[in-house]
Amino acid sequence: MAYRSFGKFIEALEQAGELKRVALPVDTDLLIAAWADREMKSPGGGKALLFEQPIVDGAKSEFPVAINTMGSRRRIAMALGRESADEIAQEIQLILKAKPPTDLREGFALLKQGIHLLHARPKQVKEGACQEIVHKIDNQFSLADLPILKCWPKDGGRFITLPNVHTRDPETGARNVGVYRMQIYDKRTTGMHWQIHKVGARHGKRYYERGERMPVAVTLGGDPVYTFAATAPLPDGLDEILFAGFLRKRSIELVRCKTIDVDVPADVDFVLEGYVQPGEMRPEGPFGDHTGFYTALEDYPVFHLTAITHRRDAVYPTTIVGVPPMEDYYLGDASVRIFLPVFKMNFPEIVDMTLPPEGVFHNLVFVSIRKQYPYQAFKIMHGLWGMGQMMFSKYIVVVDEDCDVHNTSEVLFRLCANTDPARDTTFIKNPSDSLDHAPSEQNIGSHMGFDATSKLPGENYHRSWPELLKMTDEAQKLVDALQAQTR
Ligand SMILES: Cc1cc2nc3c(=O)[nH]c(=O)nc-3n(C[C@H](O)[C@H](O)[C@H](O)COP(=O)(O)O)c2cc1C
Repeated sequence: MAYRSFGKFIEALEQAGELKRVALPVDTDLLIAAWADREMKSPGGGKALLFEQPIVDGAKSEFPVAINTMGSRRRIAMALGRESADEIAQEIQLILKAKPPTDLREGFALLKQGIHLLHARPKQVKEGACQEIVHKIDNQFSLADLPILKCWPKDGGRFITLPNVHTRDPETGARNVGVYRMQIYDKRTTGMHWQIHKVGARHGKRYYERGERMPVAVTLGGDPVYTFAATAPLPDGLDEILFAGFLRKRSIELVRCKTIDVDVPADVDFVLEGYVQPGEMRPEGPFGDHTGFYTALEDYPVFHLTAITHRRDAVYPTTIVGVPPMEDYYLGDASVRIFLPVFKMNFPEIVDMTLPPEGVFHNLVFVSIRKQYPYQAFKIMHGLWGMGQMMFSKYIVVVDEDCDVHNTSEVLFRLCANTDPARDTTFIKNPSDSLDHAPSEQNIGSHMGFDATSKLPGENYHRSWPELLKMTDEAQKLVDALQAQTR
């Protein structure tokens, strides 16, 4: 189901009992963040919050603030227009199985083909709701008029936390959309926090090499699948706009920006039009980050605003990140579930996989496999470390197929019981997440794999592997019946 606007999604959340409206004036300086942090940490991710009177520098903003709108299994499923993210995984599996691919490249090609078949191609339109109000650079309206949050006490300022950053490769014309936070420097200038491994940074490098100014459009709101697609770790070259069209089962209408040659979804709430100047860098941060720690000051490119356009009824979407669990966990979790068929296509022995919230995305991966031959667990670790953003996975724990990876306690039991540390672990060198403060050097580090599967002959285990305790089905049934009598 496609939402015609972010407002329609908020209405749907309200009808489903998933939204709390806050009619009181609440300050965008820490207070909305503090309120949202409590909500995100309440059981199951709490509710979405709509602050109707956000206060910016003592004055009420023209725009309400929505936060935690995707911060639960139910709300992310609603954002994706399905009963659960697993439904999308099934749809992807169908496409992939249409003609069995033989490798990853072919698999994604087929995936793209499937997306085309489902009429996910965007349509170009001349006008869009996102341009109902147009403020060019000479207008008084500026970033100071948006209810942008200061999230944590020692943050370097206010940050836009859910920007969908639209860029193009100047050589191939390929489009990319990624969520990269933007620190507000002044009314018309922000940071552009695309980390070096991300596609926006790669596009930027191409412009810098050519010495050309890079047009960048930033959208906020619209159908929530836009933001989900922008956060999803799609392989470079798989277009987020096509993917979002596939997710919502409806082509996205694109409209040309007013001051730059970039197309954006016509129904988003806000568009920030501007550019990044080659070579211009500025300290960005500190920022209370996904890791649960402050990320220190670092140089990042600078975004210069040339126009802001918006819907008349625009709602400002935002989130905060911090000590888990936070809203971002549900975005990452849905990505893993949706792309599980792609992982399984490459590694048919994979049964299930999860990135538990404590690991904040890449720090911890649990994967179960149907093991057939010696050292297969190590093959899986190396395979995952070679796949896109899975390269950042700091710890990978591989368990047997009968272990539920979604039950952290069960995985830890297998890890403790089934491993001899020297024999069943491996260390590798790989790129690290830019945000990880633990490695001695930024962006590079060691990663560790644990083979917590039962050992096969040929795996340096010279005893006979014991049997895991399991009650008989018959005894279970009899006890069920007995307990029913005692209730
Ligand atoms: C709430 C949120 C904020 C994010 N902020 C950043 C950021 O500031 N910089 C960054 O490089 N990635 C950030 N990410 C992760 C990227 O959006 C994600 O890695 C995405 O897949 C990047 O897209 P790309 O592969 O097209 O570059 C954030 C993700 C979420 C959910």
